[in-house]
Amino acid sequence: MTQSGDETAPVGATPDAPKVVVIIPTYNERENLPIILDRLFAAVPAAHSLVVDDGSPDGTGDVADKIAAEDGRVKVLHRSEKAGLGAAYVAGFRWALDAGYDLVVEMDADGSHAPEQLPRLLAAIRHADLVLGSRWVPGGQVVNWPKSREMLSRGGNLYTRLALGIELHDATGGYRVYRRTVLQTIELSGISSQGYCFQVDLAWRTVQAGFRVVEVPITFAEREIGESKMSGNIVREALLRVTEWGAAHRAAQLRSLLRRR
Ligand code: GDD
Ligand code: MN
Repeated sequence: MTQSGDETAPVGATPDAPKVVVIIPTYNERENLPIILDRLFAAVPAAHSLVVDDGSPDGTGDVADKIAAEDGRVKVLHRSEKAGLGAAYVAGFRWALDAGYDLVVEMDADGSHAPEQLPRLLAAIRHADLVLGSRWVPGGQVVNWPKSREMLSRGGNLYTRLALGIELHDATGGYRVYRRTVLQTIELSGISSQGYCFQVDLAWRTVQAGFRVVEVPITFAEREIGESKMSGNIVREALLRVTEWGAAHRAAQLRSLLRRR
């Protein structure tokens, strides 16, 4: 399921090209947001962006509004309180579907996901329904990540592969491109994952719905400004949920096996 994706597609460059929106969830990213948007529009000028801010105390929402007032490609969704990455993305996906976008991108605000690599992800979506930017396939890498975080990500992905029986190497990553049909098919209202296990949740739903998932190597660079929102609760939620999904999947497999006999 790996693809190098070296071809660059001029997505959005012609009138009938797919419409692309890059959803950027933010919580206390006031310094990072202008930088990431500049880099995004330098890399893919035809893209639009939706910032989903959870009432950041540092005023990220105001920064986003100012940028949106000057650049018609940027829209802002304000949510009243920090409700987790999953809830922010679900709100963003609904907005993107309503607005008629063909391709929906997930990207962190802190520079860990290089916009310069987005053309490669967009090239790969021509032959897939979901493209995962992947740290853990040949050609993928992480830069400046503490060893503990690397172990957590590698371990989490190994556990996910074993528990769910899927072939994906980076199901926890947050740099992705979805075709709108995927988001229309998946029951968005059924998603209760709050933290980063939301990423596994969506990858799993996409695989189960029979869509084509492709992994493209990326270079993930640790943020230089601000702080990660990763927490023990996020890890515990992920571990619990993935275990539940895996158990439910195995039980369903067993039932269908018994029916056949
Ligand atoms: N709106 C909103 N609400 N945004 C949030 C929230 C929230 O509750 N929590 C985090 N974010 C935003 C951050 O502001 C940032 O733009 C992005 O989500 C990622 O958060 P980080 O805190 O920087 O994540 P990380 O670097 O620790 O984790 C990365 O790796 C995880 C594991 O592979 C991300 O790529 C995750 O998506 C990924 O699951
Ligand atoms: Mn980060």
